[in-house]
Amino acid sequence: MCGIVAYLGKKQAYPILLKGLKRLEYRGYDSAGVALIDETLTVYKKKGKVQDLETFIGERSTAGSIGIGHTRWATHGKPDDINAHPHISSNGRLVLVHNGIIENYGLLKEALKKTGHSFETQTDTEVLVNLIEEIQKTDNLALEEAVRVALTKVRGAYAIVVMDKNDPDKLVAARKSSPLVVGVGDDGFYLASDGTPIVEHTRKVVYLKDEEIVTLTRSGEMDIKTISNEIQHPFIQELEFEIETIEKGGYDYFMLKEINEQPATIRECLRGRLNADEGWIKLSGVDNLVNKLLNADRFIIVGCGTSWHAGLIAEYLFEDFVRIPVEVEYASEFRYRNPIISERDIVFAISQSGETADTLAALELAKEKGASIYGVVNVVGSSIARITDEGSYIHAGPEIGVASTKAFTGQVTLLTMIALTLANKKGTISNAYYRQLITELEQIPNKVQQVLEKNAQIEFIAKEIMDAPNALYLGRGYNFPVALEGALKLKEISYIHAEGYPAAEMKHGPIALIDENMPVIVMATNRSAYEKIISNIQEVKARGGRVIAIISEGDKEIKEIADYTIEIPETEEPLTPLISVIPLQLLSYHIALMRGCNVDQPRNLAKSVTVE
Ligand code: G6P
Repeated sequence: MCGIVAYLGKKQAYPILLKGLKRLEYRGYDSAGVALIDETLTVYKKKGKVQDLETFIGERSTAGSIGIGHTRWATHGKPDDINAHPHISSNGRLVLVHNGIIENYGLLKEALKKTGHSFETQTDTEVLVNLIEEIQKTDNLALEEAVRVALTKVRGAYAIVVMDKNDPDKLVAARKSSPLVVGVGDDGFYLASDGTPIVEHTRKVVYLKDEEIVTLTRSGEMDIKTISNEIQHPFIQELEFEIETIEKGGYDYFMLKEINEQPATIRECLRGRLNADEGWIKLSGVDNLVNKLLNADRFIIVGCGTSWHAGLIAEYLFEDFVRIPVEVEYASEFRYRNPIISERDIVFAISQSGETADTLAALELAKEKGASIYGVVNVVGSSIARITDEGSYIHAGPEIGVASTKAFTGQVTLLTMIALTLANKKGTISNAYYRQLITELEQIPNKVQQVLEKNAQIEFIAKEIMDAPNALYLGRGYNFPVALEGALKLKEISYIHAEGYPAAEMKHGPIALIDENMPVIVMATNRSAYEKIISNIQEVKARGGRVIAIISEGDKEIKEIADYTIEIPETEEPLTPLISVIPLQLLSYHIALMRGCNVDQPRNLAKSVTVE
């Protein structure tokens, strides 16, 4: 949420900043801006996408080999040109970009007004840059020291980069709860919210830790200190992903590319961890925590959005196979309801980005109470990955489309492996069934590929229902969380109101909404509740609803009664979500496209939500 990029070195900064902002646009896209220092300080800011900023700048001067840039997801102050970042301090000397929220900005603002600062915007960021200016001039401090002292006075979350007009040879940056990466290139330093703007310039990076401040100079020095003034030694790591993974590679949208990548990303998640012929699953995170995992009183799963849906599927898997009670919690609610957590609980954190503020906060609380944390994360080196005791990466590669697709199937694949390996170790699954399931899990990428080949048929159905104002998704058992995920996908990107329901619950409310305008998408592959699902479909049909059923290949009975059917390959029921979610992703994609929506950057959303 909000993307930051900065450069200091031998090259011109503007093209680096602009391209970097385009790469980071998935983090926020309501306004964007850059600041450059050459002879003087130049700031350009514009409401809208990075493209609007680029058009606005046009042929204007963009000289400067030091600069900072920002793409915003508004928190304080509406998205407009004035509230866009970068923000300049009252004396016009300091300029700053910020990702996060300064919670005590109101009090700080009142105090700063009394010392003569005036404010043009409604942002918390303008307060922070003025606070740094005030400390810098009152105590005559170097910029990095003024930043450090200022940060001891703020409460909240931040990743910031600051420049001083009078010192165009230095960048100062800091983070707390919002990510920031330093790129160490031959031609200079880069800073960004993640590695995507950096990877084409250098693979050498330092992931800044919470409450660290880095000072970068034109002569090549990098100094890191904590806010409490302790010197730190930078740990240089290699960026692991390839540049092709962050480009559209011939697809019109990242979302479509990422949907189509799923056979490969699921295979990647399984690679080296599962061998069906030899009958083993090996996850080093599980091995390292195995005693605690097997002897846990309870698993608590926390996550947000799509990751929470993956958690719901894990609840079915863990209880079904491992026979340990599971609670799945919205990370945001978990933290604020005084939860009962003990040292014998294991908390599973599910997150694509590894930066979601609510999930991070929930983990901090769980840690405080002594629980062990297991991370199921996509982004390597992210904040959540770092605070967990153990974990496994899903290895889905960068996910850029705001609506999560390949990360979801990666999370479910990994959680399935965790459940099966624990069940096998605990003896709560028969050896024969265990072997059967892992053999089938290995086949999932091929089966996902078969569903992707139904794209044209799914596009046809999308056309039939694209004008509906509402939609209902129904599923039972393992397919219930998939129904929730299908509804979320549709509302996120097409702005059609959609709800997911357990199929049997329909008669306790949603049935009142059904008429000929209401498409009802029914997940109808469960063998265990087949007859009941048919009854649910009949109930919808009897009230004039249009039924789109996701069925198992060769199912003639439901084909007879549903208006449209999408056949998917049969699999073991616990593995169904990995296949049944695919047509729902494609359905949402096509509907959104037909309605003229920007599927990669839906309004008001951001991919990485780093504010609570
Ligand atoms: C945002 C994104 C969702 C995502 C959720 C959780 O709302 O738009 O796609 O599922 O955050 O993000 P995480 O990175 O923690 O999985």
